[in-house]
Amino acid sequence: MESNDVHADLKHVLKSKDEIQNRIAELAAEIDRDYEGRDLLIVGVLKGAVMVMADLARALHSHVTMDWMAVSSYGSGTQSSGVVRILKDLDSDLMGKHVLIVEDIIDSGLTLSWLKTNLESRGTASVEICTAFRKPDAAKVAIDVKYVGFDIPNEFVVGYGLDYAEKYRNLDFVGTLAPHVYE
Ligand code: IMP
Ligand code: MG
Repeated sequence: MESNDVHADLKHVLKSKDEIQNRIAELAAEIDRDYEGRDLLIVGVLKGAVMVMADLARALHSHVTMDWMAVSSYGSGTQSSGVVRILKDLDSDLMGKHVLIVEDIIDSGLTLSWLKTNLESRGTASVEICTAFRKPDAAKVAIDVKYVGFDIPNEFVVGYGLDYAEKYRNLDFVGTLAPHVYE
């Protein structure tokens, strides 16, 4: 879906399709360079990271393998608690692997902080993080993120994988919702 398709639901477009695609290409070039000569496994966190995984993987000029995890953060309502449960684990053995976790957005950072430690405990050669979006003002834990698409303000956004009540994931841009949608 494009911005015209959901015009009535939008407050504003935060990052357009072109801005996102250009930035993903830049990140892919950095990743190609940084992992030159090494085997890389990219791990997408379901469901939000589907779009960024698909675009990032196709923008790379190197071979990578791809795997997926699904996790849920226990907590009240929309607040992440940092207590994480694995809903779907990786199919791959991580022993000796260079792993890049690919995420849609880092909000408090609690989920990813837990996930990074979990994957590192499996004997990886390295674990780094790539996220399409990050909200620096929402951070509750310090977390080292090697590749960041965009730092954005601390407000709720949808699109490009990000949902509100499971909707809006299939927007090709990222935007904020008009208050009438969630009030
Ligand atoms: P946290 O970093 O542990 O707080 O949780 C990050 C997760 O919360 C992301 O992977 C998203 O699934 C979800 N999330 C955080 N901020 C937003 C947002 O603005 N829109 C949609 N989902 C969000
Ligand atoms: Mg997510």
